[in-house]
Amino acid sequence: MFSLDKVVPWGRSYDEYLAMFALTPEDLRRRIVGVGDGPAAFNAVATRNGGGVVSVDPIYKASGEQLRELIDGVFASMLAETEANKDEFVWRHINSVSDLGVLRRGAMDEFLTDYELGTQEYRYVTGQLPELPFMDHTFELALCSHFLFLYSEQHDFDFHVASLKEMARVAEEVRVFPLLELGAVKSRHLDAVVSVLEREGLRPKIVTVEYEFQRGGNQMLQIGG
Ligand SMILES: C[S@@+](CC[C@H](N)C(=O)[O-])C[C@H]1O[C@@H](n2cnc3c(N)ncnc32)[C@H](O)[C@@H]1O
Repeated sequence: MFSLDKVVPWGRSYDEYLAMFALTPEDLRRRIVGVGDGPAAFNAVATRNGGGVVSVDPIYKASGEQLRELIDGVFASMLAETEANKDEFVWRHINSVSDLGVLRRGAMDEFLTDYELGTQEYRYVTGQLPELPFMDHTFELALCSHFLFLYSEQHDFDFHVASLKEMARVAEEVRVFPLLELGAVKSRHLDAVVSVLEREGLRPKIVTVEYEFQRGGNQMLQIGG
């Protein structure tokens, strides 16, 4: 089973973000915060396209050079772990482990190229859940890809509830993808988290999207949409 001891820097492409979060052209005109964006290309490409995205992640305390070293340090083992657990993934949009390597490397290079300017422009902000360094309702949309739910073993139920409420505090709408944990199984926290959010009137919804790479991972949690 695909497993990791800790949360690793591993960045997805802009197109993957569009598909994971079913982002429309109208969504892309909103003020967006990407929580746990790490070395993903979303901010770099969205900014180039005229969008307004702020990414927040604890790894942004590191310099670009340090981040490149961190990425290089995990790159081969991430691909090897994927190869060893190939059956947990759907090889439809991404055809092979080597294609995955090219896609991830390209995305993370986009990020690294943008990182210094983006930091100066306050687009890459150091911070972490469950407390974000933003005022209430700073953003229209908060996205979180491959952190909440995915690392359910490392982060407990209370962390998930506090983090989702925090994202709903800083943004009008929240979207989280995927709802699986590592090993391509439904997050152990999902049902209980959704119940609490419902009880608290946050109107959580589970929405099926086009993207599926982890087998069965084609749903996002939407709050306030
Ligand atoms: C697997 S990466 C996903 C990166 C990106 N969202 C994507 O999908 O390509 C997980 C990210 O979560 C970040 N992270 C770890 N702890 C966090 C926390 N408490 N709050 C926010 N992000 C965190 C990590 O630094 C890492 O960049």
